[in-house]
Amino acid sequence: MNTDHLSIVTTADGSKTIFNAQVGENYHSRHGALQESQHVFLNSGLRYFLAGSDANTVSVLEVGLGTGLNFLLTADFCTAKQIQLNYTGIEAFPLNIEMLSNTGYEQYISSQMWQSFLQHYTQSLQQPVTLNEYCVFQTAHCQLLNFSASQQYDVIYFDAFAAIHQPDMWNEAAIDHTLQFLKPGGVFVTYAITGNLKRQIKALGLKVEKAPGAPGKREMLRAVKPA
Ligand SMILES: C[S@@+](CC[C@H](N)C(=O)[O-])C[C@H]1O[C@@H](n2cnc3c(N)ncnc32)[C@H](O)[C@@H]1O
Repeated sequence: MNTDHLSIVTTADGSKTIFNAQVGENYHSRHGALQESQHVFLNSGLRYFLAGSDANTVSVLEVGLGTGLNFLLTADFCTAKQIQLNYTGIEAFPLNIEMLSNTGYEQYISSQMWQSFLQHYTQSLQQPVTLNEYCVFQTAHCQLLNFSASQQYDVIYFDAFAAIHQPDMWNEAAIDHTLQFLKPGGVFVTYAITGNLKRQIKALGLKVEKAPGAPGKREMLRAVKPA
């Protein structure tokens, strides 16, 4: 893919992200890519789910895999805790390896995970790949609405570009489509919260809560599907 519209930028916590000039938005919060990823997805999503479960396996679906930062932190965490992770990232416009390797994210995870991610990323676009004894990863190279799966997931990370730039990722069709892949008892998280999003998710029978947001945002949304 032509990457002229993509550039690496540094966010307030010193971690990098990508600016997409066609969309007019960063892949992560300008207040801190690493902080956002840790707070919204790892801590408020995955760790929240695990705290309420005694399972030593977990499945995660991400909408908008992008640079893979949410995946890398999740995979590194699960490996350290010896939790079996099955992770699928949906991505309509996969980044090339050069772009991925310029993010500097190797400083936040083990070098084994980093090397394995870069080495297997291209293959992950075709099939699930085993990155280490705890982690199976695949990238679903498709538009969200074309994604299908024979499984449901324990945790969904919803990390689309903001509704102001990509409203069709936040409309009823997109949210309904995404939530059909959440297991009963599963947790959905996203960095933003709006009245409309809360209403849409409540209408699907999930319990919605406002959780404290990442730096730069007062609140984020977490929803749990009744068991
Ligand atoms: C906010 S960025 C995600 C950042 C990412 N989670 C990360 O850690 O780098 C949104 C992502 O959604 C992808 N995307 C845009 N439209 C999409 C669609 N219709 N279906 C799936 N992915 C899409 C973009 O290419 C981009 O990678």
